[in-house]
Amino acid sequence: MRLQGKVAIISGAASGMGAATARMFAREGAKVLIADVLDPQGTDIATSIGPAARYEHLDVTSEPDWAATVAAAQRHFGKLDILVNNAGISGSAEQDLYSTDAWNRIMGVNATGVFFGMKHAIPALKAAGGGSIVNLSSIAGIIGSEGIHMAYNASKAAVRLMTKSVAVQHARDGIRCNSVHPGVMPAMRTSGRTADPMVRAERMKVIPMRRPGEVDEVAYAVLFLASDESSYITGSEIHVDGGAIAI
Ligand SMILES: NC(=O)c1ccc[n+]([C@@H]2O[C@H](COP(=O)([O-])OP(=O)(O)OC[C@H]3O[C@@H](n4cnc5c(N)ncnc54)[C@H](O)[C@@H]3O)[C@@H](O)[C@H]2O)c1
Repeated sequence: MRLQGKVAIISGAASGMGAATARMFAREGAKVLIADVLDPQGTDIATSIGPAARYEHLDVTSEPDWAATVAAAQRHFGKLDILVNNAGISGSAEQDLYSTDAWNRIMGVNATGVFFGMKHAIPALKAAGGGSIVNLSSIAGIIGSEGIHMAYNASKAAVRLMTKSVAVQHARDGIRCNSVHPGVMPAMRTSGRTADPMVRAERMKVIPMRRPGEVDEVAYAVLFLASDESSYITGSEIHVDGGAIAI
């Protein structure tokens, strides 16, 4: 029960790593608000978890949605202790790597969405006496990637540095903020090139562990940073990448 008594919002928790994190948080004693644009999938996950979970519709690019989601956590579960900014879209499905529309879309979800999340959650975390923010970046926020729109790299790099900014500015409010950087994982719903088995096989050759990660391997890192076990860690980052950027 590593999150006993805690209340968390997880964006993008209707799928992939967000869903795995929601299940893990609930197993560890947290109350979890699953927030996504995929209403049927999100509702199913909340129902399968039981009374410890609720689903809320949240488009992370909408400030009114964020205000309503934070208010829902406080209304249903009494407070907010943890925000996991996990929602994201891939840059690997874009045909035109210089599309301005793709730049705006990817930056809107992956960077502005995280900014909005922190903007609206921080007052609630302060009201609860402090808390933990965990932002999902990527190794693509640290190194360049072939065949994906540069907005994916730029948005994930923005997440990495927004994390450090909030860590510094809110340390004395008792709010910690850290980022998690997955490497090659099960492909995102919006993946194009990175879902291609041939491309994945090529990428395995340069990963020291020679395998993709599993969703729970990321969720465990998020759990650690969300819990009080990481009480002296802020502005930091964990790479969950099988050693991919260690070489
Ligand atoms: N899968 C990978 O290889 C990988 C690697 C590194 C980092 N990441 C990052 O990890 C996070 C989770 O990725 P995943 O693999 O679970 O992907 P996924 O596609 O399975 O899940 C992403 C979730 O975000 C939601 N989402 C998208 N746009 C949204 C919006 N505007 N508002 C609210 N929710 C929205 C989707 O509906 C989906 O449920 C993302 O931020 C992603 O960029 C993924």
